[in-house]
Amino acid sequence: MPSMIVLGIETSCDETAAAIVADDRTILSNVVLSQLDEHRPYGGVVPEIAARAHLDYLDCIIRQALDEADIELSALDGIAATGGPGLIGGVMVGVMTAKAIAAVHDLPFLAVNHLEGHALTARLTDAVEFPYLLLLVSGGHCQLLAVEDVGSYTRLGGTIDDAIGEAFDKTAKLLDLGYPGGPAVEAAAAAGDPTRFKLPRPLSGRPGCDFSFSGLKTAVRHAAAKLPAASQPNDALSPADAADLAAGFQAAVGDVLVDRCAHAFDAFAQSHAGAIPPLVVAGGVAANLHLRACLNALCEERQTRLVAPPPALCTDNAAMIAWAGLEHLRRGARDGLDFAPRPRWPLDETKVATA
Ligand code: KG4
Ligand code: ZN
Repeated sequence: MPSMIVLGIETSCDETAAAIVADDRTILSNVVLSQLDEHRPYGGVVPEIAARAHLDYLDCIIRQALDEADIELSALDGIAATGGPGLIGGVMVGVMTAKAIAAVHDLPFLAVNHLEGHALTARLTDAVEFPYLLLLVSGGHCQLLAVEDVGSYTRLGGTIDDAIGEAFDKTAKLLDLGYPGGPAVEAAAAAGDPTRFKLPRPLSGRPGCDFSFSGLKTAVRHAAAKLPAASQPNDALSPADAADLAAGFQAAVGDVLVDRCAHAFDAFAQSHAGAIPPLVVAGGVAANLHLRACLNALCEERQTRLVAPPPALCTDNAAMIAWAGLEHLRRGARDGLDFAPRPRWPLDETKVATA
């Protein structure tokens, strides 16, 4: 029997989500409303449209999460909402809603760092013990961290230009594959030849754990510009050329991730008496099967395991926010109702608040 049940709310980007999670690691409900259709005409997320949609839908998404879990608000032990980082209008909608419910029902309120939600998901899905290495790869983030404990994260490296999901999205736009880009590039790459185009592996072989993707994106653009496009309507690339470029891009990203994670294993071993931790991959890009296979091979070589939560819990969702809130709550933490949403909130600044 669970002894703690938390409602999580996620509104930091273009998903309006609510979930109910128990401390025995059961997800009682996990409702995600994607605003993809609202943003598709613009080829990316429009912050004002996102904030308005969160305001319109959040109440009924929370009601649905409670109904699916078959519980009332009075059965909860806490309310967790994403407090940042993210699009500030959306974060405010989620935080204000959570605070109001917490105040009315006299429940603890927890402001969760969205990145911490991704970081701790593997403990909800796979009961991974601390410490572990985390590769966080999403539309807005690309970083390697040593996860020591709840609230204790050491950043080993991050991107110096584009986030990896952003690189996928921009490449998809360039190849005219549609939005959102990641799944479109992966689907196109399945039919492509990854060796046809010689694309760079930025920063590979260099010391450290940083990433760079803008050079790779530019190389794809130059390779595309040299191809005959005129035979297709609207000067588009032929499907075969687009597939080969997508496959080449994805292969380059896979190689870069392996190189950077290998360095992260070395850095971790140095600071942890030679220990080789599990590697957890999280964030929307972790849904990519080719990248998972590359990381799996690295983990086999290092004789450790790769933990990749199921795709629905890799992309933005509220179960991860409820779980991160629960991890803090059961250590006695809670946040004040004066918490101010944080558009920027580096994960290594997240500390365990004490009650
Ligand atoms: O974590 P997420 O849902 O949202 C945040 O950015 O926080 O990640 C979304 C990103 C997008 O850039 C999307 O294109 C990328 O994850 N993505 C993928 C795949 N599925 C989603 N990238 C590569 N391959 C995929 N299969
Ligand atoms: Zn995310």
